[in-house]
Amino acid sequence: MTRLLVTGGAGFIGSNFTRHVVAHTDWHVTVLDKLTYAGNLASLAGLPEGRVEFVRGDVGDAELVDGLFARVDAVAHFAAESHNDNSLHDPRPFLDTNLAGTYTLLEAARKHDRRFHHVSTDEVYGDLELDDPARFTESTPYNPSSPYSATKAGSDMLVRAWARSFGVRATISNCSNNYGPFQHVEKFIPRQVTNIIRGIRPRLYGAGQNVRDWIHADDHSSAVLAVLDRGRIGETYLVGADGEKSNKEVVELVLRLMGQPAGAYDHVADRAGHDLRYAIDSAKLRAELGWQPRYRDFEAGLADTIDWYRANEHWWAPAKDATEAFYAGKGQ
Ligand code: NAD
Ligand code: TYD
Repeated sequence: MTRLLVTGGAGFIGSNFTRHVVAHTDWHVTVLDKLTYAGNLASLAGLPEGRVEFVRGDVGDAELVDGLFARVDAVAHFAAESHNDNSLHDPRPFLDTNLAGTYTLLEAARKHDRRFHHVSTDEVYGDLELDDPARFTESTPYNPSSPYSATKAGSDMLVRAWARSFGVRATISNCSNNYGPFQHVEKFIPRQVTNIIRGIRPRLYGAGQNVRDWIHADDHSSAVLAVLDRGRIGETYLVGADGEKSNKEVVELVLRLMGQPAGAYDHVADRAGHDLRYAIDSAKLRAELGWQPRYRDFEAGLADTIDWYRANEHWWAPAKDATEAFYAGKGQ
């Protein structure tokens, strides 16, 4: 049986991934998570104790990390500061966790010779023009825009250097925007869904023309599992499900699915340095590893996600007021 360490496993994608691994393998998972404002133990509720162990701690704590690496076979590294708007407000935690934290894990992977998978974002590639037929591929040059994407780009470079110079058995995946259950209410889709549940109008940055390429978190999880299992060491795989939509289209769809008039949203101040468009070409992952997304119908996946937020107000309500107070302070 594989013993897997999942960093950031109490966060949005890490918890979805932990559930996916429990459902689809016989592996044992140790979750290492600091439980920052973004981590929530309730996201792991109901998982069998014999399969999932939780350790609270920082990926930058070298002694703790060393002890954990000694007793696992492989590592899936999700832990990060993940929100662009926070990185524009206070970049420091992004440098600490995304760069120094990843460095600490890589040193342990090197010492213990452990298989290491690094979870990253398509935002390392910068953005595309709205009318550009191109999509990101594994050979697109890095060109990050925000402190968040710059630190993720730096962490990818560290992984590549440790693989090449020290022989760490590493892979990297760069995925597009995720949606699904257990996503923090600071992010675009949960913010608008929970606003509508609370009787607040959705907030669109700028004109809302920006395009994101949406993928369900469970499809991201199956891709990470495929790369961990069958990916070629030293390789990078782009993960996407052909889900390009403008923010305006997404808000209007959320409003319609929740029985509201299509125009019942407000335009607010735009994000500084706001990336225009992301789009992923995932041909390499599909051809080499036979991966396919299960959620091909964005509207159906979004409807399921809305149902989940309606049914789980106890999960998101504790974070809602503080999140809205943060945005209100920025006129958003
Ligand atoms: P999230 O913010 O929901 O969760 C991050 C988790 O990491 C939290 O549980 C937090 O407590 C934990 N964490 C933060 N700092 C830590 C530290 N120093 N030590 C230990 N744990 C720490 O983020 P997410 O959206 O689930 O993203 C997970 C990963 O996936 C990140 O690496 C992110 O860059 C990447 N990613 C996210 C998306 C997306 O759409 N959300 C898309 C592509 C890639
Ligand atoms: P976000 O969920 O923060 O993800 P990312 O910055 O990684 O793409 O935002 C998704 C898109 O939605 C992005 O273009 C910014 C926009 N946005 C809004 O229009 N309104 C909002 O309230 C938020 C949080 C984001």
